[in-house]
Amino acid sequence: MYYVGIDLGTSAVKLLLMEGTGKITNIVSKEYPLYFPNPGWSEQKPEDWWNAVKEGLKELTKDCDKSQVAGISFGGQMHGLVILDANDNVIRPAILWNDGRTQEETDYLNQEIGKENLSKYTANIAFTGFTAPKILWVKNKEPENFARISKIMLPKDYIAYMLTGSFCTDVSDASGMLLFDVEHKCWSQEMMDICGVQASQLAKIYESYEVVGTLKPEVAAELGLPEQIKVAAGAGDNAAAAVGTGTVGDGMCNISLGTSGTIFISSKNFGVDKNNALHSFAHADGKYHLMGCMLSAASCNKWWMEEILQTTKFAQEQALITDEQLGNNHVYFLPYLMGERSPHNDANARGTFIGMTMDTTRADLYQAVLEGVAFAIRDSFEVAKSLGIHIEASKICGGGAKSPLWKKIFANVLNIRLDLIESEEGPGYGGAILAAVACGEYATVEDAAAKLVKVIDSVTPDQALAARYEERYRKFAQIYPTVKELFPKIS
Ligand code: XUL
Repeated sequence: MYYVGIDLGTSAVKLLLMEGTGKITNIVSKEYPLYFPNPGWSEQKPEDWWNAVKEGLKELTKDCDKSQVAGISFGGQMHGLVILDANDNVIRPAILWNDGRTQEETDYLNQEIGKENLSKYTANIAFTGFTAPKILWVKNKEPENFARISKIMLPKDYIAYMLTGSFCTDVSDASGMLLFDVEHKCWSQEMMDICGVQASQLAKIYESYEVVGTLKPEVAAELGLPEQIKVAAGAGDNAAAAVGTGTVGDGMCNISLGTSGTIFISSKNFGVDKNNALHSFAHADGKYHLMGCMLSAASCNKWWMEEILQTTKFAQEQALITDEQLGNNHVYFLPYLMGERSPHNDANARGTFIGMTMDTTRADLYQAVLEGVAFAIRDSFEVAKSLGIHIEASKICGGGAKSPLWKKIFANVLNIRLDLIESEEGPGYGGAILAAVACGEYATVEDAAAKLVKVIDSVTPDQALAARYEERYRKFAQIYPTVKELFPKIS
């Protein structure tokens, strides 16, 4: 049998076809535009996602025996607000996870409703990218749109709805809405009241590996696929990536270097840190996880190369960064090009270079960009350590993980071993695994991950280099607190 994993990302949707044995037989990617209509705003059109998914599915399955396609599932960009009216029309473009327009609503939630109450209702506090502040923003700034809302959805759930007609979500993605009681896995009545939302506007909740429906006959006909294909709820992209890298069960870690950068720690038990610096979310394996999320990770690399240096020769540019230079750079970079989520929760934060002299080279600046992203992940790693969580090794996935240099920097900045797995297709592979579990090919997500995910290599820290990075991280950690008061004045 075949299983399809759909990774609905921010720059593109990536679709992957997996055999029941875990072998990937085809991968297709379709890009769509990302709109920044105002500074700090970030939007996409759900219709673009849907067209890209349909085109992608046709291309993905064109040479396989379509009668053997058994299941489809997802890893989707999290937190995005998709709103539909009573006729299922999309009311306005989706407001994405990295959109910073809701500072006022976020402050209202954290300060007036209070972090303690939010944490009691949902296990989390408000961040500008979360869904509830966006709902309040639409209510305050676009009341005519708010009045038309019939359904509130997350990005991948819009695709599930278009495929099956089932108005559904899963526990991991719902966790990032700030409307969901993570511990008890149900919608929070308090948060619905605070946001002016009715239960009928919210989706039915499933575990990530549960079937939500089968293809609508007209969709099956358009795609040339059998109607009986099962669609499973799927997961937020980080939980799906965790499944795809075998980060399930207790105390496992995964670092994802996509547009965003995340550090994801799986846990059998529900838990919240006292400052809510890490997100406390449900996991796609039926349990829980803690996560730190930085808003610009591989996107800093892309920005530096494509916008600033105007080149796409990543390997050539990285080759200028020699081994001797690692740990010795005098330039630092704060990677806050879209503001920052974990752990600073500061939508006004901005990208910053500091420490240049007349002998600073192009390679030094690029190195600072790559190191700045690793230092920013280390900030969340430090929070996890302060909770008594001991991490010796982590998996790593996402576009940024393709760079041997960046992996070396990460292993030494964090001073942990990085385990590299056979398939780097984190969320897409995780989505396909969730579909396989939903169709009964594997008994549980843990069982599937144990059988399918293989570690093929490791990057081990070098103790002398890790010590140099330790010193540099201590300096990096002082920069944001020193300049943060400036950001609201200059942004
Ligand atoms: C996680 C988050 C991002 C997006 C990226 O909280 O906001 O990782 O899911 O797609």
